[in-house]
Amino acid sequence: MLNKKFAEDIQEGLSKRQKSIPFIYFYDERGSWLFQQIMQLPEYYLPACEVSILEEHKMSMLNHFSSKKKAFNLIDLGAGDASKTKTLVQYYHENEVKFTYTPVDLSTSILSALSESLSAAYPELNYRALNKDYWEALDLLKQNTNKGERKVVLFLGANIGNFTKDQSIEFLSTLKSYLNPGDLVMIGFDLKKRPEIIYKAYRDSKGITAAFNLNLLHRINQELGGNFKPNYFRFYPYYNPQTGELMSHLVSLKKQVVQIESLEMNVEFEQWESIHTEISKKYTINEIETLASEAGFAVKEHFQDTKNYFVDTLLQV
Ligand SMILES: C[S@@+](CC[C@H](N)C(=O)[O-])C[C@H]1O[C@@H](n2cnc3c(N)ncnc32)[C@H](O)[C@@H]1O
Repeated sequence: MLNKKFAEDIQEGLSKRQKSIPFIYFYDERGSWLFQQIMQLPEYYLPACEVSILEEHKMSMLNHFSSKKKAFNLIDLGAGDASKTKTLVQYYHENEVKFTYTPVDLSTSILSALSESLSAAYPELNYRALNKDYWEALDLLKQNTNKGERKVVLFLGANIGNFTKDQSIEFLSTLKSYLNPGDLVMIGFDLKKRPEIIYKAYRDSKGITAAFNLNLLHRINQELGGNFKPNYFRFYPYYNPQTGELMSHLVSLKKQVVQIESLEMNVEFEQWESIHTEISKKYTINEIETLASEAGFAVKEHFQDTKNYFVDTLLQV
C-alpha cells in the first residue's frame, strides 16, 4: 500500500531548489537495523556517553521522577530499540518502583522487537508500546492518563539535534502543551567538542552511516517505484563548528534523471548537486539553557558524562 504522507513529502522535498528528504524516513526496517549498527561503531561516541550518564545518575533521576514514591509514566519518544532507556527500566523494575513504561515509535518493526524483548526480560513490567507519531501518542496519553500521575517524557539519543534551533523551540513548546505543571522532560543533547571527533562519528570507516543515508534512495525505489542508482550518489557529511551543525548530504556524481513512477515524476540532477538528508546539531550548556527558557521550561539538572561529550538535561513544566 502506498504511504500517502511519504509520497507527498518525497515529492515536495525533491522538487525544492535544495533537494531534501525528511530525516524521519530513515527508519524503515533496514534503516532501523543500520542505525543499530551505527550505535555500535566505536567512533559513534554518543550512545556510550549517554548510557554512562544513565548508569551513573539513575538514582538521582529517580528522585526527580518520583516524589514520595508516587507512580509515574515514563514516556520514551522515538524509543528505537530502547537500548539506553533499558538502563533505567531495568533498575526501576528491579527496585519495585511504581511506573509505567510507554515507548513511542513510528517504526513498527523496531517497536515489535522491543515489545518482545521487554516481555521476555521483564514479564511483570507495566508497559504499553505505542506505534504512533509523537503527537498522536501524546494526545492519546493526555486523554487516558490517571489524574495526578506525573508524565516523565524522555527524548534521548540526541534526537533533538535533528531540528534547527527554531524547530527545537517549536517542538518543545508543542510538547509542553501536552503536559501539566510538575511534569518532566529529559532530553539528550550532543555537546560541542573537538570538530574532528564529531566529523569522524559520521564519516565512519565501515561506511555504515553512508549506507544508512543511501537507504533513503532504496526506500524510494521500493515504495514509490523509483529508479535511483544509489552508487551514482556519494554520502558527504560536514561539520560547521560555528553553528554546531553536522550536515549530511547525498551528492550526485553525474548529471542524471531519476524517474519515480508512483509520483509520475522525473527528478533532474546536475553533476555535484546534493540532496540534504539530515542535520545533527551540537549544543553548549548555555545554548541549552536559552532553548529551554525560550520554550518555557525550567532547567532542573544537567547530567553529563565524564568527558563532557553529552548531556541529558532534565526540564520541568
Ligand atoms: C535516532 S533513533 C533514537 C532511538 C533511541 N531513542 C536512542 O536513543 O537510541 C530515533 C527513533 O525515533 C523514531 N522517530 C522519528 N521520528 C518520529 C516521530 N515523529 N514519531 C515517532 N517516532 C519517531 C524513529 O523511528 C527512530 O526509531
